[in-house]
Amino acid sequence: MRTPFLFISRSFRTVRSLKQRHFVSPASALERHQRVVVRYSSTHSCNDNKNYYITTPIFYVNASPHLGHLYSAVIADCFHRYKLLQGFNSKFATGTDEHGLKIQQAADIAGKDPLTFCTDVSERFKHLFSSCNVLFTDYIRTTEHRHCEAVKHFWSVLWNKGLIYKGSYEGWYSTQDESFLTPLQVVDALDSSGREIKVSLESGHKVEWMKEENYMFRLSAFRTQLLDWLRGNPRAIQPERFHQAVLQWLQEDLPDLSVSRQRSRLQWGIPVPGDAEQTIYVWLDALVNYLTVAGYPDKHNQWWNVAHHIVGKDILKFHAIYWPSFLLGAGLPLPQTIHVHSHWTVGGKKMSKSLGNVVDPLERSQMFTTDGMRYFLLRQGVPDSDCDYTDDKVMKLLNAELADSLGGLLNRCTAPALNPAQVYPSFCPQSFPREQGGRAVVEDYHMLDAVHHLPAVVAQHYESMHVYKALEAISACVRQTNGFVQRHTPWKLDRTDSKDQRWLDTIIHVSLECLRIYGTLLQPVVPEISNKLLSRLGVQQGRRSWADVNFLPRYQGADCPSEGRALGSDSGVLFSRLESPNVDQQKTKKNKKATKLK
Ligand code: MSP
Repeated sequence: MRTPFLFISRSFRTVRSLKQRHFVSPASALERHQRVVVRYSSTHSCNDNKNYYITTPIFYVNASPHLGHLYSAVIADCFHRYKLLQGFNSKFATGTDEHGLKIQQAADIAGKDPLTFCTDVSERFKHLFSSCNVLFTDYIRTTEHRHCEAVKHFWSVLWNKGLIYKGSYEGWYSTQDESFLTPLQVVDALDSSGREIKVSLESGHKVEWMKEENYMFRLSAFRTQLLDWLRGNPRAIQPERFHQAVLQWLQEDLPDLSVSRQRSRLQWGIPVPGDAEQTIYVWLDALVNYLTVAGYPDKHNQWWNVAHHIVGKDILKFHAIYWPSFLLGAGLPLPQTIHVHSHWTVGGKKMSKSLGNVVDPLERSQMFTTDGMRYFLLRQGVPDSDCDYTDDKVMKLLNAELADSLGGLLNRCTAPALNPAQVYPSFCPQSFPREQGGRAVVEDYHMLDAVHHLPAVVAQHYESMHVYKALEAISACVRQTNGFVQRHTPWKLDRTDSKDQRWLDTIIHVSLECLRIYGTLLQPVVPEISNKLLSRLGVQQGRRSWADVNFLPRYQGADCPSEGRALGSDSGVLFSRLESPNVDQQKTKKNKKATKLK
């Protein structure tokens, strides 16, 4: 016997008594969440009291952008676009980190003056991000005047509070990481010519012994406050394992931090206010970028109170220990969340110029399309652990999920053979009733249930930066919808029979509704594909926000704004299947052979 739509059967009484026009389910946590989401996003226009501020780390300009950099930027872009869809007024900052010894050295090697060198590389990052549809609202360079002023002001606040004192630092320093290390963080190694050197245990970069007079920040004074912050805000650092790692670090000694370098050693940086012999430590300089963009020192509150950072795992210590301590010292609020991501490796190894395994993101996005790269990075990238990159994985994933599954579904439901009128056809409640008796089977009700819950599931995963889980959930629903079409083989129905015709229209209507939900939810990840999909479905620009997801209103007895409307005219392929270069070569060989045989 057929089971009616599970969701309705479970909450049947509620449905009847409330006479709701919407799907109603047991008040699961997810649904409560969705209701909140929907309530808050009832308008597409930006609402002033709904601000959101997301940042990427600012990128070093000593080398060209690589895949890992694009990954950081695409995660932040996904958050930003998601918040915009929810009606937030979202600010999204990225940019370049341009001071420091390694930049100075890279400019020397390139034979350019440092600023020209920085401008060239900074433009390359900007170009990459723009090409990949990274919709930043602010692009900050630490060499800008506004930033230098913000850093000097920030320094003076810490100085005036007695948190910076003149001292001397003696210990290990890694120029590559711009980081001070304790003896326990350093190990013996051999350089390329077999000489004994010391390297950082964590990054493997060479370290040198440094002995300098410089300014120290009273980092040690903040240990308890940091612990209180983390214990009181268990979701401040996500995922959980990184939150725990920081708590663990705080169990150890927290020595004061050197926050300047002698000018004689480092000229390429911001001078310490009132002491031209010293240059401000690059990490203090760089971290303040988040405040500069927010409008510091005059008008930063509106944004600074809603700040969220995206950072790679290698720079967690700087963001979760140094930065909050500086902020506490300056009397400023701490960031709302620090979202940490892991790294992309190639052949199981860190990408590096010397290993020759650096993946060029621009080249790859030309090869696989920008949306293809975005989808791959966010679908395969797991915040908790490193992922290995191969072109083959990209091709397989994109062909399976974007070309075949999603593209195939759209193709089927909009093909003139099945949909000669090229419209969003009518839904027939008798064919697909809310209770038993129509032509729908139990799996179809399961599918409706899954798609109905999907926006809340996806929202929850987007919020917690588990984008891969959101995409997994969407992909599973796309498979279910394909199964639905396959099961009912609408191409076999008899169009001359009015009942069959109504059922055929219903199958297409339901499938297009599913596609509308997928297109809407995928916008933060693959904006171009989503746009193409929604345009093909004839969904107007103003009806693509999170508040518009309302799935299959006809099933609930409400009107469907799309019903009867013409489909969009662009019937082109949603995502073209990718061919591997090897396959291409084989094909060419075969063709040549065939030509010869002729
Ligand atoms: N300039 C500093 C950040 C200062 S923020 C105040 C910096 N720059 S970076 O260019 O080296 O790194 C920028 C971001 O790229 C970091 O989040 C880092 O984790 C990320 N990635 C660098 N290599 C990566 C991979 N191989 N994979 C993923 N992300 C990686 O650190």
